[in-house]
Amino acid sequence: MKNLTADELRDTYLKFFESKGHKIIPGASVIPENDPTVLFTTAGMHPLVPYLMGAMEHPAGTRLTDVQKCVRTGDIDEVGDAAHLTFFEMLGNWSLNDYFKKEAISWSFEFLTQHLGFKPEQLNVTVFRGEGQEGEAGYIPADEEAVAIWKSLGIPDERIFRLPREDNWWGPAGTTGPCGPDTEMFIDTGKEKCGPDCRPGCHCGKYIEIWNDVFMQYNKNEDGKFVPLGRHNVDTGMGVERTICMMSGAPTVYDTEIFAPIMKAIDDLRAAGSSAPELAPEDLLKARRVIADHMRTATFILCDPKGAVKPGNVGANYVLRRLIRRAVRFARMIGIQPGFTVKLAEVICEKYKHVYPELKANLETCKLDLEAEEKRFNATLDKGEAMYQKVAEQLKAHGQSQISGKTAFKLYDTFGFPFEMTCEMAAKDGLTVDKEGFDEANRKHQELSRTTSAGSFKAGLQDNSAVVTRMHTATHLLHAALHKVLGPTANQKGSNITAERLRFDFSWPEKMTEEQKAAVEKLVNEWIEQGIEVTKKMTTVEEAKAEGAMALFGAKYGDQVSLYSIGDISKEICCGPHVTNTKELGSFKIKKEESSSAGVRRIKAVIGNLA
Ligand code: ALA
Repeated sequence: MKNLTADELRDTYLKFFESKGHKIIPGASVIPENDPTVLFTTAGMHPLVPYLMGAMEHPAGTRLTDVQKCVRTGDIDEVGDAAHLTFFEMLGNWSLNDYFKKEAISWSFEFLTQHLGFKPEQLNVTVFRGEGQEGEAGYIPADEEAVAIWKSLGIPDERIFRLPREDNWWGPAGTTGPCGPDTEMFIDTGKEKCGPDCRPGCHCGKYIEIWNDVFMQYNKNEDGKFVPLGRHNVDTGMGVERTICMMSGAPTVYDTEIFAPIMKAIDDLRAAGSSAPELAPEDLLKARRVIADHMRTATFILCDPKGAVKPGNVGANYVLRRLIRRAVRFARMIGIQPGFTVKLAEVICEKYKHVYPELKANLETCKLDLEAEEKRFNATLDKGEAMYQKVAEQLKAHGQSQISGKTAFKLYDTFGFPFEMTCEMAAKDGLTVDKEGFDEANRKHQELSRTTSAGSFKAGLQDNSAVVTRMHTATHLLHAALHKVLGPTANQKGSNITAERLRFDFSWPEKMTEEQKAAVEKLVNEWIEQGIEVTKKMTTVEEAKAEGAMALFGAKYGDQVSLYSIGDISKEICCGPHVTNTKELGSFKIKKEESSSAGVRRIKAVIGNLA
C-alpha cells in the first residue's frame, strides 16, 4: 500500500480519470444552489443533477471528475468513532450517459490496486440484490452484471456481498431525482469479525467503505415510483479522509496527516489551559475528536464563497450553530480556555488554503462569527453554572447529596444548561443526579409540547423556530399516513424534532416494505400539495376523543386542550405550534426506517426548505 497524503491522493485521482478521457471540473459550494430539498451539499453528484437527468448538456462533456466539499450531519452522534465525520472531501467521476458498469468498476479496481497499492485480497464489495418478482410492478433485478465484472477482475464470490436496497441503492439526493443500484468498495482492516453475520456495512469497524459506484439508471418521480431514466449514468464517490486512513494504516481518520495539525493544536490549547480536569481517557479522546471534526466543518461552512450561512436558529444556520456550540461544550469539558475556535480556524485554514483558497479569503469574517458565537454560548453556560452552584450549595446546606430530576430539568430547560454539564459538575462535587427523574421530566415536557428543538443544544434556541414548527406539522401528516397505509395500530410512540429532521416512533411489528414507505411518502406529499388548512380549537379531552381525535401517550391533559385538525385528515390533541397550511411544508421525504425497540419502528424524515 502506498502512503499518500490528501494532496497526493486528490492529484493522483484527478490525473487518473483525466487519462481515461474525463474533464476535471471545479467542485461546487458546500451551500447548495437552487436545491430546496437539502441544507448542504452532501455528495459530488448534487450540483450535477440536471446533467444526470439529461435536462441539459454539460459544457465540459460526458466524462467529468472533481473533488467536492461535503457536509453530512445526519450521523452527528457517531462523530468520535473511527470513521464518521460531518465534513469530508469526496472524489468523484461521472459518466453522463457515456460509459457504464464495466468501465466504472474496472477503473475503480485499477485505481485502487495499481495507483493506491491496495491488495486485491483486502477488497470486499457489495452489490444490489434486487427486489420484487419478475413481471410484477416495481421489480428491479439483482445486479448480476456488477457481480460478473467483479469476478472477472479476480474478486471471489465470498467477498462479493449481495445486499438489499437499504445498503446498495443510492439517491435521490432530494425527494425526487436520479438514483440507482450501487456497488460499494470496502477495505478489510484485518480486525476480528464481530460475529457470524459480520459483513461490509455492518458498521463494526472491520470493513471500512471508501468508494461507491452508483449506476444511475432510475428516476424517483413525484409518485415515489422508481422509473427507468432512459440514461445510463455513473456517479461515484470516494472519501478522501477514509482512503488516506486506510492507506496509512492509521487506526482512525483523526490519526491521519489531515488531522495531525488540528489535533496538535487542540492538545496545545489544552496544555495551556489553567486547570485541565482529570477525565477518563475515552471521554478525552471523544472530546478531542468532536472538537476537531466540528471546527473543521464550521470553518468550511463559514468560509464558503457564498457566505450565506451564519450561526442562527433555523435550517443550515442552526446546524452551524449546533456544531460550534457542541465544540465549545466539549472544549470546556477538557479544560480548553475561551477563544479557541478562532485559533483552530487559523490552523484549519493553514492546512487547506492551497486547495481551497476561499479559506484564506474569508478567514477574517469566519473568525468574527466564531468569536461572537463562542462568546454568546459561553455566557449562557456561565449563567447555567452559577445557577448550578446555587443548587449545589442549597443541597449541601440541607445535608442532601442528590440533584433531583426536576431541578436538573429546570437548569436545562430554563437556563439552557446542558444536562451532561450538570452531571459533570455534580460528579466533581460528590453529588449524584437523578437521571431517570430528568428523563421523566423531559419526556413529560415533550409529550405535552411534542416539539423539542435540539436536545442538549437547546441553549439560546427557540423551540418554536419556523423549521421545527413545519416539521411538527409533518409528524401529524406522517402519523395520519401511517394509519392509512398500515392501519390503526400504527400508533405514535414518541417523536423528536430538530431543525434537520424529524424522528417518529410508532408501534409496528416488522420492517416496512418499500411499497409501504413509498405509499406513506406519497400520501404526505399529496396532502402538502393540496394546501390543506390547519386549524386549532380549544375543547375538552372527552369532546376531542368523541370527534375521533388521537390523544397520545396516555398523557394527562388539563381541562381545556387544544385540538389541531388538518382538514379531515388528522385530528390530534397537541400543544402546537403548527403551520397554518400544509403547503408550508414544501415536500416530505423518508430518510430511514429502522427498528427502535421490540415492536416499535422508527422513521427519520426531512421536509423541503422554503425559498
Ligand atoms: N453519490 C454517491 C455517494 O455519495 C456516490 O455515495
